[in-house]
Amino acid sequence: MHAIIVSEPGGPEVLQWAERPDPVAGQGEVLLDIAATAVNRADLLQRQGLYPPPPGASDVIGLECSGTIAALGPGVTGWRVGDEVCALLAGGGYAERVAVPAAQLLPVPAGVDLVSAAALPEVACTVWSNVVMLAGLGAGDVFLVHGGAGGIGTHAIQLGKALGATVAVTAGSAERLARCRELGADLAVNYRDQDFVAELRQATDGHGADVVLDNMGGSYLDRNVDALATGGRLTVIGMQGGRKGELDLAKLMAKRASVSATSLRPRPVDGPGGKAEIIADVRARLWPLVEVGAVRPIVHDVRDIRDIGSAHRDLADGDVFGKLVLRVS
Ligand SMILES: NC(=O)c1ccc[n+]([C@@H]2O[C@H](COP(=O)([O-])OP(=O)(O)OC[C@H]3O[C@@H](n4cnc5c(N)ncnc54)[C@H](OP(=O)(O)O)[C@@H]3O)[C@@H](O)[C@H]2O)c1
Repeated sequence: MHAIIVSEPGGPEVLQWAERPDPVAGQGEVLLDIAATAVNRADLLQRQGLYPPPPGASDVIGLECSGTIAALGPGVTGWRVGDEVCALLAGGGYAERVAVPAAQLLPVPAGVDLVSAAALPEVACTVWSNVVMLAGLGAGDVFLVHGGAGGIGTHAIQLGKALGATVAVTAGSAERLARCRELGADLAVNYRDQDFVAELRQATDGHGADVVLDNMGGSYLDRNVDALATGGRLTVIGMQGGRKGELDLAKLMAKRASVSATSLRPRPVDGPGGKAEIIADVRARLWPLVEVGAVRPIVHDVRDIRDIGSAHRDLADGDVFGKLVLRVS
């Protein structure tokens, strides 16, 4: 098969389309012929040598894909050769073929085409596991989404509205804020020149956010705690603003609030909190929202995988609204 390989850690120019040995489906795995994959921010770090794959995962970049089952490994039930699926991957998506645990497969939702389905697994599993399974977002809650215009953010806005929450977002330009509002955001705050804590308090009569989904980490920790309502839940999934920050426990105690931080990629497949558990809940409870169109893949552009360099550049430059999808076959 062919795959995108990293000739040496560096800029987008180190990404090359090259021949690689075909993967083989092991116990409990299926082999997929990949139709499309999608770009994630973590891919840029992996390309630079800053985010190595977890032990046992493919060293080929790519955390999600869509495609057709080409072969079943031993012990796989519930799937057939020829099924169209999308998959959460620990790596290996930038390729023509990948072997993936069957427990990480999702059917392509009705109403979504095979190529666009590649934009769903990573954002769906990340947002659902943090915002619903961990933080328990529900109807009537106020939900603050940082980076509303990104892949994660555009998915989170739609999910928040589908669950009956009031959704506030941050984004970095008037145009991106307007697009977040079109997707359903009730309040849109420009993080470059507005104070999101003050704006949120004003818009919610002092209540604040019941749930915050945060991509910034250290630099936003104190302000995120300020933004929380009594009993609020801050879920940190990114460290774009650094890995360390000061946590004022007195503020947290006074609000009876909580802070969590999770990452999806290194989780085991099985066991409590594993990928299989997340996939099962996403399939049972989120997929019906996708199938009625309440939550859609937001695809900024579809490019040939051999244009991977331009895709990495555009994501790094902040020129992408939603997800960049790469067509493989
Ligand atoms: N923990 C996990 O399991 C997990 C899984 C998936 C993703 N993530 C992380 O989640 C984050 C978002 O992922 P993504 O795929 O959505 O990436 P993305 O599409 O590249 O989006 C990045 C977002 O960061 C926003 N941003 C930049 N500076 C900001 C600031 N000062 N305040 C608020 N927002 C700011 C950007 O907003 P503008 O473009 O409007 O400037 C953009 O929306 C990344 O850090 C990623 O690594 C974590």
